[in-house]
Amino acid sequence: MRVANRGWLEGDVALVTGGGSGIGRAVVKRFIEEGAAGIGVMVRSQEQADNLVAEFGNQVVVSMGDVRSGADNQLAVDATVARFGKLDTLVGNAGVWDFFTRLEKMSLADLDKSFDEIFGVNVKGYVLAARAAAEALRASRGSMIFTLSNSAFYAGGGGPLYVASKHAGLGLIKQLAYEFAPEVRVNGVAPGGTVTPLRGPESLGKQERRLSEIPNFQENVANSMPLKMIAQPEDHAGHYVLLASRANSKATTAVVIQSDGGWEIRPMR
Ligand SMILES: NC(=O)c1ccc[n+]([C@@H]2O[C@H](COP(=O)([O-])OP(=O)(O)OC[C@H]3O[C@@H](n4cnc5c(N)ncnc54)[C@H](O)[C@@H]3O)[C@@H](O)[C@H]2O)c1
Repeated sequence: MRVANRGWLEGDVALVTGGGSGIGRAVVKRFIEEGAAGIGVMVRSQEQADNLVAEFGNQVVVSMGDVRSGADNQLAVDATVARFGKLDTLVGNAGVWDFFTRLEKMSLADLDKSFDEIFGVNVKGYVLAARAAAEALRASRGSMIFTLSNSAFYAGGGGPLYVASKHAGLGLIKQLAYEFAPEVRVNGVAPGGTVTPLRGPESLGKQERRLSEIPNFQENVANSMPLKMIAQPEDHAGHYVLLASRANSKATTAVVIQSDGGWEIRPMR
């Protein structure tokens, strides 16, 4: 008799923000493959919501909202718990990039608006999601996982606003891990260049620009990295599974897994 392989997340329930595309969507798919009982997904557009339901049916509950709103984060947590009965893992992932915009390329007025937008999504969005999910995660002794970036550790993966926002995410992970121990583990995954439709800020008029559409982006990233590759979203998903898994990461908190093709050891240009 064949014994079915049990997934690492058998029966777990997660909420993924920004799970309608890119890395977040790959995490949703992989968590379901690993046996998750259901996934809440917070998205920005009806199109993303429809696509998720078309692919995953009643394995997902989709909430539309803006991660900069506390009320929208709470609605997403509540919808997930109402549908699936609990919450084991929060994946804070929604983000916006700054297209390498250097400080002096922005006027003071642009900086004012762009700081609020980029920190609003990349930092405040994570803080609010953590607050909204806190009670449910303490109850389940679950975990939080935040998507950071090579820009959480190094310069050059964005402009000052993006790099500072991702460094702030690192501080947030450490502080929340400290505050939530021993009930809730708090960790992160730091991808490097990945083929996704990551967009630019509305405040710089770059909301229609997509990272994956930058000319020669894939070749340039691949050539500059020791592993000579640019990642696809699914290349990072296993790290989220590992960190979410109580059986396999029981003793792991305040850790960020770098999934960036070896940025640290890239050759000097
Ligand atoms: N693509 C890369 O090269 C790369 C590298 C390192 C880190 N990251 C990080 O990965 C995460 C996911 O990005 P991605 O590359 O998969 O791009 P993506 O654009 O496919 O995913 C980001 C998601 O966040 C959502 N989002 C943006 N602003 C939002 C808001 N205000 N409210 C709700 N949802 C919002 C978008 O709709 C989108 O679905 C981000 O945190 C990003 O900074 C990406």
